[in-house]
Order: sequence, then structure tokens, then C-alpha cells
Amino acid sequence: MHLSGCHNFRDFQNLARRRLPRPIFDYIAGGSDDETTLRRNAESFEHVDLLPNVLRGVADIDLSTTVMGQKLDLPVYLSPTALQRLFHHRGEYATAAAAERFGTMFGVSSLGTVSMETLARRHKNPQVYQFYFHKDRGLNSAMMRKAKQSGIKVMMLTVDSITGGNRERDLKTGFSIPFRLTPSAMTQFLLKPAWGVNYLRHERFSLPQLDAHIDMKGDSLTIGRYFTEMLDPSMNWADVEAMVAEWGGPFCLKGVMTTDDARRAAEIGCSGIVLSNHGGRQLDGSRSGFDQLDEIVQAVGDRIDIMVDGGFSRGTHVLKALALGAKAVGLGRFYLFPLAAAGQPGIERALTLLKAELIRGMRLMGCTRIDKLNREMLRFR
Ligand SMILES: Cc1cc2nc3c(=O)[nH]c(=O)nc-3n(C[C@H](O)[C@H](O)[C@H](O)COP(=O)(O)O)c2cc1C
Repeated sequence: MHLSGCHNFRDFQNLARRRLPRPIFDYIAGGSDDETTLRRNAESFEHVDLLPNVLRGVADIDLSTTVMGQKLDLPVYLSPTALQRLFHHRGEYATAAAAERFGTMFGVSSLGTVSMETLARRHKNPQVYQFYFHKDRGLNSAMMRKAKQSGIKVMMLTVDSITGGNRERDLKTGFSIPFRLTPSAMTQFLLKPAWGVNYLRHERFSLPQLDAHIDMKGDSLTIGRYFTEMLDPSMNWADVEAMVAEWGGPFCLKGVMTTDDARRAAEIGCSGIVLSNHGGRQLDGSRSGFDQLDEIVQAVGDRIDIMVDGGFSRGTHVLKALALGAKAVGLGRFYLFPLAAAGQPGIERALTLLKAELIRGMRLMGCTRIDKLNREMLRFR
């Protein structure tokens, strides 16, 4: 199977499965506990039906949107994800370049494998810096200063990872950074020698967002220990209010799921929130962001930009979220499998297909602009 044979999410996922050693594929694909939330994310769109309008003159379609002051050509962005150079040797370089080609935003994770400064220098499209809250407040301030100096406009604080999720696929394979693979997982790496050759022939693995501040090299600190030892479980609304003021620009919380929290985010000066359960990787059994969208938009949609992610794999999924009032939709595995399957051309093919689906869907819905989509065009089952 080749890239040209990929027509949808499943195809990219299958190609990625063929290219990646199984422990890495499982790290991307997996969720926490019983993966109930992971499955629910993908299913949630099926409970809402689209009601199309006809004869509306839909020759020209405008897919642009503005979120947290950033103008995007597409109503989707590439959500921050960790460790991308493990998935493909071009990792974040490929993600940022593909996002730029489509005029949209990308996120760089605190656990990213290319530095946010390098990406900010190379690309002019909006970049979000995804941030975790450390016990060391000086470290938090230093990281924010660095992001500001790099020209990054939007800060995204992930608030659904106060402790790490229980990802049993990774426990079984021994996937961790540094690798602590089980013997059978090592065999899986030997079965994909092309991945190994690429990995060894290219830039050495590193976590530049953290390397400058924390000793992640060698065996001294694994990512698991980073979560339990470095991050601050006592983080509260007052801490974040201070951060928002210190940042002084667009600030968004990723992982808000209740109207009460959404309201508080608006009150402390956040410009956006992402309704998210971290792709089903944190609290298993939690509701999908999409299912919470209606309630939260009704409550605070006029005070804060609302984004959503989790399980989006079709243009019509995105249209349903936009009709409910989301300003933009975050993509995770939707671009990670294409990245793993074929690098930048993979992500570009996935975005080309999604853009075509969005344009087709808008035409069939009788809508020429994103802001013409509304709740009246949906029915809940
Ligand atoms: C492999 C992987 C790594 C991720 N790493 C991060 C991360 O470092 N920080 C973060 O806030 N979210 C992270 N996420 C969550 C995504 O940003 C996003 O919320 C999620 O993937 C959306 O769900 P979807 O994959 O079903 O689209 C990660 C997700 C995946 C699949």
C-alpha cells in the first residue's frame, strides 16, 4: 500500500502500522485504561445528524476562520503532540511545514523533538506553544520568556494531565523515554529495519523544549518521572491567572470539559479553551469534547473562543462541531498517522483530502462560509 492509495483516516492508520515498530504505533494509537473514551471520541459524531439546506448558491466556499486572534485558512489546526521525530525522522519539521502550506496553525509540545525557536524562525503560520505547569515557578517563567522571544503568539496550557494516564499498551511494550523495551517489543523493532535506519541516520533524538531546563539525557529522568516529579499537581486557578497575566497575549487552556471551568477560564482572562480529553489518553470514561460542545458554547460561547478535539477524522465531523459553535477543531492522530506513514507529503495528502471533504460538505449543506453554519442545521438523536 502506498500514499496514493490512502483515502481516509483508516488507510493512513494502516500504512503507519506497516511502517512503525509496533510499540511506537501503539503509543500513538492507544488510550488509557479500557480505551472507552478513545472509542467514544470517534463515535460521538454519529449521535448528531446534519440537516442540509438546498439552492443556496454555493459556487464559492470560504473555509477561513479566526481563533484567538489568529487568522486560519482552514477551520482545523494540528494539535500539539509529543515525540514526533520518533514517528518519522522529519517529525515537527514536517508538521509545521505542512500546516504552513495549508495556512493553518500547529502546536509544539513541551515534549516536542524540534525546538519551538527553530520552527518559529522557519515558518510564518501561527504556532502554539503547549505548556505543562512545573513545580519550579522560575522554570515556568523562563519557558514563557523563551516562547515570547521566539515570536510565539499563543500559549496553550494543558490542564488535563495533572497526572499521567494509565496507558497499558505502553506498559506492555515497555515504551518510555528513554526506551525500556521488553524483549518481545525489541523484536518488533527488528521487524521494521527501515524505521531503525532512518532513526539512526538522522538528527539525534532530543527534547529541546526541556533539555535547556531539565536533564532529560541518559537515564536520569524518564518522561513518566517528568510527569510525576516535575509537574505541579497543586496547580490551581490562581496560579493560572498569574500565568495568563504574565504572558500578556492569547492564552488558552487545553482540556477544559465543564461549563463551570469554561466560565472560570473566561474570568481569568483566557482567550480560548480546547474541549479535550487528550485523545482518550488521560481520564478513561470521560465524555468526549464534542459531546460537551453544545452545553459549553451555550454557556460561554460569547465570552471565549471555544475549540474542540478528539476523534475528528472526517470533514463532516468538523462541520458538526463548527455548527455547534466551535471556532476551530484540533487534529491529533489525524495527522500523526500520515506523518508516520509518509512524512510531510503524508500530512499534506491528509489535509488535501480533508479540505476537499470540507468544501464538498459545505456545498452539500448549502453554506458558503463557516459563520453560516449554525445549530439549526443539526438534530440530536
Ligand atoms: C501520540 C500523541 C501524543 C500527544 N502528545 C501531547 C502533548 O505532548 N501535549 C498535549 O497537550 N497533548 C498531546 N496529545 C493530545 C493531542 O494534542 C490531542 O488533544 C488529541 O490527540 C486529540 O485526539 P485525536 O488524536 O483523536 O485527534 C497527544 C496525542 C497523541 C495521540
